[in-house]
Amino acid sequence: MKKIRIAILGLGTVGGGVYRLLEMRKAEMPKRAGVEIEVAKILVRNIEKAAKKADRSLLTNDWQEIIGDDSISVIIEVMGGMEPAGTYIMEALKAGRHVVSANKDLIAVRGRELLMTAKENHCDFLFEASVAGGIPILRPLKQCLAGNEISDVMGIVNGTTNFILTKMTDENMEFDEALAVATELGYAEADPTADVEGYDAARKVAIMASIAFHSRVTFNDVYTEGISRISAKDIKYARELGCDIKLLGVAKNTPDGIEARVHPMLIPCSHPLASVKDAFNAVFVHGDAVDDAMFYGRGAGEMPTASAVVGDVIDILRNMEWGSSGRIGCSCYRDLPIKEIGD
Ligand code: NAP
Ligand code: HSE
Repeated sequence: MKKIRIAILGLGTVGGGVYRLLEMRKAEMPKRAGVEIEVAKILVRNIEKAAKKADRSLLTNDWQEIIGDDSISVIIEVMGGMEPAGTYIMEALKAGRHVVSANKDLIAVRGRELLMTAKENHCDFLFEASVAGGIPILRPLKQCLAGNEISDVMGIVNGTTNFILTKMTDENMEFDEALAVATELGYAEADPTADVEGYDAARKVAIMASIAFHSRVTFNDVYTEGISRISAKDIKYARELGCDIKLLGVAKNTPDGIEARVHPMLIPCSHPLASVKDAFNAVFVHGDAVDDAMFYGRGAGEMPTASAVVGDVIDILRNMEWGSSGRIGCSCYRDLPIKEIGD
């Protein structure tokens, strides 16, 4: 059976989860995707640190060892940041490698360029994990809801700030303490300013709006205000009004143009978004045919994010082996024992 060799760029929170999940599913891969897989190389900066998570023989800090190895056909970028991630992804796509990324910083600014490069080189460039962690949202927007005229995409799309606001509201925790716990749990960005000031949510709004509205919305197009000025007093006053404070991302396609914004909002405690706690995310979509749809789940963290990344990898493997119709179909309807229920 064909074996697909995969490289992972980065072995932090997400990369560690991706490596673990790929190893957990390795034996199943022939059934799920028609191929065997092997993680061939993992790019990191600090090999000593990474050796706690993966065999030292897999680790390198030399990109040339990966891009120069023609036997590697899928590259997973989970190192983050604009550079060198941007250069590596461009080089990978130009060399005909399929790429999966969780890097919203990069995609919210250079998404179109990366997708055009993928198209020109007949490669896949998938990035489901870049928005709302483990929640499937980009694929539903671009595939399942493609028949709609989507007018609204809005919700809680940053786990760290939702975690902080939940802890400040429900447990009277101080802002700094809640941020430290979110960082410890692997929810926060390498520089948590991106979470706290709303930039991370703005990047996700830009990506969702681009896909939902078939347009190009970039990070700079999104009005952004974070939660750094929200105090315990604000939360107390909100509660007196029967409300919670949530950081919301909103994208609307209006006759006057696209509106895209991120800012804290008062949400009545009875509203479904008020029950979205901790690092959970929720996204509401309104389309003219489907009406309202809601997506809910874990928006950050090691394994939920790995779930989205590995889903993209399997999608690519299926397409490589079975073609587009096999992306869903070929591994289904296997003959497995069916348990009888009742007597
Ligand atoms: P992280 O824990 O900081 O891990 C980053 C990893 O990349 C580390 O292994 C680091 O190596 C490596 N790295 C960084 N720059 C490198 C370079 N120039 N060369 C080689 N290796 C490099 O970050 P993370 O939380 O896993 O996030 C990774 C990406 O996923 C980011 O784009 C983030 O926005 C995105 N994301 C994160 C989450 C989440 O819940 N954490 C969810 C969705 C998406 P060293 O440790 O050796 O420096
Ligand atoms: N820092 C991000 C968050 C990670 O807290 O939502 C998931 O994209």
